[in-house]
Amino acid sequence: MRRPILVSNRLPVTIGVDSSTGEQTLAHSVGGLVTGLKPLHESSGGLWVGYPGADPSDEIRRELDEQNLVPVDLDPQDYNDYYDGYANDALWPLFHYFTEFGSFVPEQFEAYRRVNERFADVICEIAEPGDAVWVHDYHLMLLPRMLRNRGLDARIGFFLHIPFPADETFRILPQRVEILRGLLGADLIGMHTYDYAYNYLRSVRRILGIESQAGTIRMRDHDVRVEAHPLGIDTDEFRENAYTENAERFLTQLKRTVGDRQVILGVDRLDYTKGLLLKLRAFERLLERSPRWSERVLFIQLAVPTRAGVGTYQDLKAEVERRVSEINGIHGSPLLSPINYLYQTVTQEELGALYRVADVCFVSPVRDGLNLVAKEYVICREDGGGILVISEFAGAASELGEGLRVNPWDIEGTADQLERALDMSLGERHERMMPMFSRIVQNDVHQWVRNFMSSLEKTETDQVGSPPMLHSLVLAESLASDFRTADRSLVMLDYDGSLREFVDRYEDAVPTEEILEILHEYGQRDDVTVFINSGRDHQTLGEWFQECPIDLIAEHGAWMKSAGEDRWRLLGALDTSWKSNVLALLDDYVGRTPGSRIEEKETALAWHYRQTEETHGNWQALELVSVLENSLRGQPVQVMHGAKVVEVRQQGLTKARAYDLVIDRFGPFDFSLATGDDRTDEDLFSHVGPEVHTVKIGSGSSAARVAVDSPRSLREMLFALLRAKVG
Ligand code: UDP
Ligand code: G6P
Repeated sequence: MRRPILVSNRLPVTIGVDSSTGEQTLAHSVGGLVTGLKPLHESSGGLWVGYPGADPSDEIRRELDEQNLVPVDLDPQDYNDYYDGYANDALWPLFHYFTEFGSFVPEQFEAYRRVNERFADVICEIAEPGDAVWVHDYHLMLLPRMLRNRGLDARIGFFLHIPFPADETFRILPQRVEILRGLLGADLIGMHTYDYAYNYLRSVRRILGIESQAGTIRMRDHDVRVEAHPLGIDTDEFRENAYTENAERFLTQLKRTVGDRQVILGVDRLDYTKGLLLKLRAFERLLERSPRWSERVLFIQLAVPTRAGVGTYQDLKAEVERRVSEINGIHGSPLLSPINYLYQTVTQEELGALYRVADVCFVSPVRDGLNLVAKEYVICREDGGGILVISEFAGAASELGEGLRVNPWDIEGTADQLERALDMSLGERHERMMPMFSRIVQNDVHQWVRNFMSSLEKTETDQVGSPPMLHSLVLAESLASDFRTADRSLVMLDYDGSLREFVDRYEDAVPTEEILEILHEYGQRDDVTVFINSGRDHQTLGEWFQECPIDLIAEHGAWMKSAGEDRWRLLGALDTSWKSNVLALLDDYVGRTPGSRIEEKETALAWHYRQTEETHGNWQALELVSVLENSLRGQPVQVMHGAKVVEVRQQGLTKARAYDLVIDRFGPFDFSLATGDDRTDEDLFSHVGPEVHTVKIGSGSSAARVAVDSPRSLREMLFALLRAKVG
């Protein structure tokens, strides 16, 4: 395995100050990210780069160094603006759908950018060729692109520990473009669930207009894969911690305090995403409905201090404390309080003991990337005697289907499930807990690391890059000898963007004298079969090339006509069932987008927006693609976003299929050339065998073998190739 360099805002230890001596101390940091990464760091001998919480003393610096921890020194004001500000007051609330809490301050984003740059400086100083740099979480979303721009010789992975929201929410972010592009610097982007990965890909499509195929985004300089890798826990370590002598001692004390009551346990950072107020309300509702529980159940809620510098967190703390004393005041007795609320961090051993004593673990976030507490609980109750109540809004819910699922906003429903959990027989608890236990053991944190790292390796070998860009004459030269000696040649030419430059109004792109001359010269030869293979409608192509002795394929492979014939042949059964609905929708977009127009073809409808105001047109196009894809799901059509055109066309009639029909009817050929510039041509390039010379017009990744920079170069190349044949 490559040497991993882990990068996260927080190191696994945080600097604190001893109140009696005033000296700096190191304390273990809290949160799912640290819990998840610690095992990899401890076993790999790699480095971990992060902010240690303060400017370290020399002594502390030495200690960090011994633990392979690399502190990033940051200006305190920048740190506040980046951490309390942009990360936790803009990204965190927005990504958890708390849009009303989001405050987007441009100066704080600038600090966020500067801090990301500082991380990049430190990584570039310590990284060695061949390392795997693995960046974590929403604090560092610009970093992958920064590292790539600096030419770092390493694989770059990124993992997001929080949800990635739906594009409708994400697009609220004023810096949405920078954030999306920042991540695209990575080779591999990991998220906890498929939903989050899908949301990211949709935002990339909708906001940047960049498409993905099967989870891969092809950038100019590299491929980016986006995958779901739900984080696991270190199951052995958790079990060990829960059964140490200290843990046993604490457990005994706990049991004494609890008596014969059942325990409901909550363990959460005191964060509004954890749904603490709703949780308290559901528990209160349980007591209201069934007062029998007031003296028979103890709800222990551990609220771990977090982000106390952010206003929303301070308000929450006050409100939670008020509600706890209210409920205890109403439902408690002089001897017993139904809620034991602790605002503190506990040791791993104490936490293990708490899990073991809990009959019910109550995990009810309103939004949570994953939630490790749920998994830790199942592992510590390996006797199967507990039961998990879990919110459907926790990423982990999809892996923990045997838990009792709740919608935390549904207070009655949650109270029902709590009561069901408390009343559940030991047999049923066992039946539900054991399959989850095995699943968590199987997909532990080591497996998570292995999966992510091996995927990070894969991206390297599977890269689909850009074909080399050749000068027109060099390309002609390289094809010349095959072409010269061939008895039967096929030359298949795309039209718009390949043979002919784009123009403002698509109907104005009539063939020039130069193009007609090329086609005449090729078409006259008995040993060459020439096809224009275009997306244009068949009537227009027929009119434009009626004088040329060449064959035509129109509408991206739907129609074919041979030289000299009058009649077009449809290369499949025509299905226009979808057309009237799509036409109505496109009409609507024409009405709302000045300068855009509809082109009607027999098998397709195209919405052109080359003449619209650029920003508005681009935005409308991305929206239209998304609306079309949603509304046409399952219909026999394909939606394509081309060069300033959104096209809906009948499925199954492709350029690749038309190519096969040409080979059947006119082949075989001993020289074949295919050219093109857009996605429909890529269908063809990836379909044909290596014997076909494929040429992309323009830059960017492609399945074509080589590229030329422009239609003009293609025409030059075609002239030069012909001269080679003629001699
Ligand atoms: N945790 C801890 N000390 C505590 C309480 C909790 O270290 O006093 C750990 C807990 O074991 C878990 C993590 O904090 O691994 C919380 O992770 P989770 O994914 O549940 O939520 P997050 O805090 O990441 O939002
Ligand atoms: C979540 C985040 C982590 C973060 C942790 C604790 O798990 O995904 O990145 O470290 O909460 O939050 P804090 O702000 O204290 O680091």
